[in-house]
Amino acid sequence: MRSRTASVALTAMVLLAGVATAGDLVADFVARHWKAPLAPQGTPPSRFTPVEASLAPESCGACHPAQLADWKTSLHAKSMGPGVAGQLADMLHADTASALSCYRCHAPLAEQRPLNAAGQTFEPNPVFDAALGAHGIPCAGCHVRAHERFGPPRRAGSLASAAPRDTLPHGGVTRTPAFLSSEFCRTCHQFAPDEFRLNGKLLENTYNEWKASRYAREGVQCQDCHMPDRRHRWRGIHDADMVRGGVTITLAPDAPRLRTGAVAALTLRLRNTGVGHAFPTYVTPRVVMRAEQVDGDGGTIAGTRVERTIERAVEVDLSREIRDTRLMPGRAAILTYQRKIDPRAAHVRVAVVVEPDAFYARFFATVLKENLVEAGAGRGRAQIERAHEDARRSPFTIFERAIAVEARR
Ligand code: HEC
Ligand code: HEC
Ligand code: HEC
Ligand code: HEC
Ligand code: HEC
Repeated sequence: MRSRTASVALTAMVLLAGVATAGDLVADFVARHWKAPLAPQGTPPSRFTPVEASLAPESCGACHPAQLADWKTSLHAKSMGPGVAGQLADMLHADTASALSCYRCHAPLAEQRPLNAAGQTFEPNPVFDAALGAHGIPCAGCHVRAHERFGPPRRAGSLASAAPRDTLPHGGVTRTPAFLSSEFCRTCHQFAPDEFRLNGKLLENTYNEWKASRYAREGVQCQDCHMPDRRHRWRGIHDADMVRGGVTITLAPDAPRLRTGAVAALTLRLRNTGVGHAFPTYVTPRVVMRAEQVDGDGGTIAGTRVERTIERAVEVDLSREIRDTRLMPGRAAILTYQRKIDPRAAHVRVAVVVEPDAFYARFFATVLKENLVEAGAGRGRAQIERAHEDARRSPFTIFERAIAVEARR
């Protein structure tokens, strides 16, 4: 018995030591892999064919078509879209150091940066590849360092190579569990403690919100929700199905009877039941819960609308946090509607609308109005105009009910 207990204790210690080491290995790998700014890839091994040496997503896609097709539809592929590129066009001239700081998250490879810092000044980057620069976060941004491929363990869990590595395309893959961990996403989705705060809270805090949630305790990683089945789609607040899947919306009573002249009493509840961090996590989206009376033509009857917003609202110039009504995991927001039904009302309409780019719609409008881009010679104006249009057009509805008003007999 004694020796059995001892061996159980010993096994537990070995396991615990093993767990601690695994965590450290992940942290060490992530620190090395994402050390900013990333170093140039250097000269490819001489036995690489041009397609193996290429950093272009299309080249990876020649052999990995499923990942390329998914990635193309993701925001990671669009992180050098008109909103970012439009701002950078001027910022690169007006405030080069700040502009270069954006590349760390929006176009992380050394080959994507037009300029390098050289002491107090800046010089053209000899390895700059403009086409790659426009690709946002390319495959190689996450998977390639010094032309070596890094990736997750095999689906069965093994880190072993299927064949001698020098016989495999691009010399095979260095496999590490770090790719399965939230730590891998942290560099870009979490500000460091000394970065920008408003009202005492970091402007970007997704990893920490996750870490404090039950999902972290239960071992549910970012990838489990955002890369199910290892898909490269990274759906988030811009996708109606993803948002619906993260929340539970109920209307009570279930089958309300509404009569002209009577008082409507409705309760709309939205609970964060499947979002692994605050809903929403950033200061940019806004979610609106709304109830209102509409006439026979579907027009809102003045004075009957009640709204409640779920958001971390900040001033356009980031000078102040206006309110923070976001929902941590498990939390709910409630809208109660208690209004006399107007004689013109045909329906009471209840809805939940998501505005994924609410902040940017305001921000780009301000930039255009105050001619902030003109101050930098307006190189980015046309792109900012497009980004403003995109941001204005992105809202969608995730819940809608129109409850008919019965005429008084
Ligand atoms: C000429 C074909 C070819 C090209 C081009 C190519 N790969 Fe691969 N890649 C393969 C093959 C074959 C494997 C499987 C190797 C193995 O089983 O160890 C693989 C494996 C991988 C893996 C691990 C996949 C797994 O199953 O876990 C990653 C990640 C990867 N490649 C990334 C890339 C990236 C990023 C690029 C572009 C920069 C790229 N590859 C370009 C053929 C290619
Ligand atoms: C190199 C930096 C970087 C890394 C690493 C990174 N992301 Fe992102 N991610 C971004 C940027 C930048 C955007 C915004 C792109 C845009 O809209 O311009 C983004 C967007 C997203 C979105 C879409 C948000 C929306 O508004 O709908 C999701 C979801 C996401 N990332 C999840 C992840 C996950 C999960 C990981 C880890 C596997 C990860 N990201 C790793 C930089 C990164
Ligand atoms: C720490 C990583 C990080 C840094 C540094 C960063 N961003 Fe972002 N940025 C993000 C993430 C993550 C998102 C996605 C937020 C969302 O979708 O709600 C984003 C979204 C955006 C968007 C809206 C999406 C789009 O494509 O239009 C713009 C514009 C933007 N960033 C501009 C910048 C600029 C300009 C800088 C440099 C001054 C910068 N960012 C620096 C992570 C970063
Ligand atoms: C933002 C970082 C990021 C980008 C960009 C990215 N990947 Fe991945 N990739 C990952 C992560 C993380 C995993 C592991 C996901 C998991 O297992 O949950 C992965 C897994 C893979 C795998 C293994 C898939 C499997 O079924 O085992 C391949 C192959 C791959 N990526 C290729 C690519 C290619 C090709 C591109 C570009 C078209 C790309 N990746 C872009 C982060 C990224
Ligand atoms: C339990 C599932 C789950 C986990 C774990 C999770 N997310 Fe999400 N995430 C969601 C859902 C659902 C949404 C859509 C609703 C929303 O935007 O909040 C979302 C939205 C997002 C967005 C869109 C921007 C925004 O303002 O909401 C980003 C970026 C993001 N997640 C990144 C991450 C990162 C990084 C991690 C890991 C640190 C992570 N997520 C962990 C489910 C999850």
